[in-house]
Amino acid sequence: MKHRLAFLLLTIFHFSLFTFHSLAQTPVYLDPSKDIETRVEDALSRMTLAEKIAVIHAQSKFSSAGVKRLGFPDFWTDDGPHGVRPDVLWDEWEQAGQSNDSCVAFPALTCLSATWNIKLSYMYGHALGEEALYRGKSMILGPGVNIYRTPLGGRNFEYMGEDPYLTSQMVVPYVLGLQSVGVASCVKHYCLNNDEEYRHQVNVIVSDRALHEIYLPGFEAAVKEGKAWGVMGAYNLYKDEHNCHNQYTLNKILKQDWGFDGVVVSDWGGAHDLDQAVRNGLDMEFGTWTDGLTMGATNAYDMYFLSKQYQKAILEGKYTTKELDEKVRRVLRLFFRTTMNKQKPYGFLCSESHYDVARKVAGEGIVLLKNDRNVLPIKAEGKKILVVGENAIKMMTVGGGSSSLKAQHEISPLEGLQRILSNSPLKGEKQGSTQVNSLPLREGRGGSLSLDFARGYVGDVGGSYNGVTTGQNLKDDRSPEDLIAEAVDKAKTADYVIIFGGLNKSNYQDCEGHDRKTMELPYNQDKLITAIAAVNKQTIYVNISGNAVCMPWREQVPAIVQGWFLGSEAGIALADVLLGNTNPSGHLPFTWYENLDQCGAHSFGEAAFPGIWREGKKVIDEEYKEGIYVGYRWTDKQKLKPAFAFGHGLSYTTFKISNLKQVHASNNGKMQFSVDIKNTGDREGSDVVQLYITDVKSSVDRPVKELKAFQKVTLKPGETRTVFFVTDRRALSFWDETTGGWKAEPGDFIAHVGDASDRLACKIKFSLSE
Ligand code: BGC
Repeated sequence: MKHRLAFLLLTIFHFSLFTFHSLAQTPVYLDPSKDIETRVEDALSRMTLAEKIAVIHAQSKFSSAGVKRLGFPDFWTDDGPHGVRPDVLWDEWEQAGQSNDSCVAFPALTCLSATWNIKLSYMYGHALGEEALYRGKSMILGPGVNIYRTPLGGRNFEYMGEDPYLTSQMVVPYVLGLQSVGVASCVKHYCLNNDEEYRHQVNVIVSDRALHEIYLPGFEAAVKEGKAWGVMGAYNLYKDEHNCHNQYTLNKILKQDWGFDGVVVSDWGGAHDLDQAVRNGLDMEFGTWTDGLTMGATNAYDMYFLSKQYQKAILEGKYTTKELDEKVRRVLRLFFRTTMNKQKPYGFLCSESHYDVARKVAGEGIVLLKNDRNVLPIKAEGKKILVVGENAIKMMTVGGGSSSLKAQHEISPLEGLQRILSNSPLKGEKQGSTQVNSLPLREGRGGSLSLDFARGYVGDVGGSYNGVTTGQNLKDDRSPEDLIAEAVDKAKTADYVIIFGGLNKSNYQDCEGHDRKTMELPYNQDKLITAIAAVNKQTIYVNISGNAVCMPWREQVPAIVQGWFLGSEAGIALADVLLGNTNPSGHLPFTWYENLDQCGAHSFGEAAFPGIWREGKKVIDEEYKEGIYVGYRWTDKQKLKPAFAFGHGLSYTTFKISNLKQVHASNNGKMQFSVDIKNTGDREGSDVVQLYITDVKSSVDRPVKELKAFQKVTLKPGETRTVFFVTDRRALSFWDETTGGWKAEPGDFIAHVGDASDRLACKIKFSLSE
């Protein structure tokens, strides 16, 4: 007995010694019960100089090294922002040829913004995060929040429109949704990357007021409210320094003023200088081109600025490790938030729920711009419907630059109409399956319904980007005249004509690297649309683009729809709106100018766009002379009537907004307003209630009004709801250039509420006392 007791005691002693020992051996940086800063410091203290250098620059096109010795895996990132980009080779832009990287293509961010639905933005980020997890990506290069300054901007489709408040509201949930599954967002392109032409050489000159009131709020919200873990520096210059290593925008504003604790990632090839890369806020260098910064070189990673040359400079005593340690701290923080986060859920690729999100965003973002005589929704039973235009059949998820995707499927507008009208199964088809040249007439539910197609115009028949091909054969050698003649001929006997036109993702259209050359529709489309509208009074034009286009035929076409780039479920979402299964509720996130003359950026000559080259043609200065007057702020000031105003969007039902009240005075700087909205039509629908504020008297010039709150509301026929808005002092403030801060001046203000910036149903005066 005695022996047994002694044995037991000995065992317990040994066991606790073992546990104590093994616990004592768990290093602090691997102990999840410790706070992240303690773990970061511990890991940092264990790293060698070479290991520190290795984690702050790329080791392949889209990855950087972890720290193998300490158990940190490699870090993988990917574009962004509309789906997870297919894998390219380790060191080349060509496809890696994986068979597991076909994704869900979500609608482009202009469409997301047009939903004005912050819940959908969270769902978008969350679903995208799950796709990224499946693909082993720990950071998505997006979302993009550069402001839509001109309708020529090649990448506007990847951004969230012209208004800083709308952009701020929509970006935060995207970031929160994405990061909720342990995938970092890398908000881009910080900052002032508002057009594409000469993007590496443009030096933006802008007033402090415009910078803070218009161009920064989206980034500020993503950082302060969204708590973004990554920010991508932009290619262009500001104050003569590239934005990937810019003392003022990165060190001062982003890190010091906003308290950003994540990583600053260079845009691919956006780093240009060792000293600036070291000192001016860059944390992770990606995509650097080493041969004079114009072309790639194989396995050039050791030649990056933040690589061997930095290491050598430290060893030679040119720099201490102060800046390096600060960069590494941020990278380690990123590791703990993503790759080292053991709580991360599993990822899913192409799950049903992701397609649901894509379809929902598409359906809510489509904007009904015009609907005379209630031509829409189409009453299809027994009718002859003619579909016209290349954009009815062209895949749009391939192209446009880095946001190009390899979608598991993409349902074209024509295919969507076919499927909904003939009740055929909706999903699972391979991309590029549309047989466009031999489209049969389809029997619809009513028996006699027919759907026909005429090409109408030939735009860009190419269908490949970076080795991903659509598989579509869009070649058509007929002359523009013949194509128009065929479409017009068929249109004469059709009950409805739906023209799908607009832009595409080819160079000089909605595409990275260049801007559009004009605001006009390309490929003879104006002629085509005018000719069809002349012979068919039930013509519907659906514009596929991320930018506004001139519509000289606008008065002749009774129904116009903005159809964006809608991703995998494009055709279904469009068909549902056109046929009335979805009641449209998208509202414009930008002002749709009649033409470029109505746009502030184009009202000051080439100095304001695209800029003026300095001697030697290395730098082009682009001065944002319109200042804070971007979008509706400009058209309001100049008393211009755009084709469609910011915030505009119709529905198949009608709404009445009334009874605006201020429920809480400016207490604590917080103000609360209430307003009633009633669905006065006969079907359920959603409207976007928008609150704008005017400063009646100010010491500085201020916009006529500015968006400061909104809510999307769904109402049954006859239903009334009271909507509450809470705003704060910042909503009344301007950026005071003399003090370098926000300032709200006491006095009278007016709150206006309506469902478009040019349809404000009620207003109320209120005042700020101190
Ligand atoms: C684009 C970025 C993109 C990066 C990586 C750059 O050319 O400007 O938006 O994330 O490439 O593909």
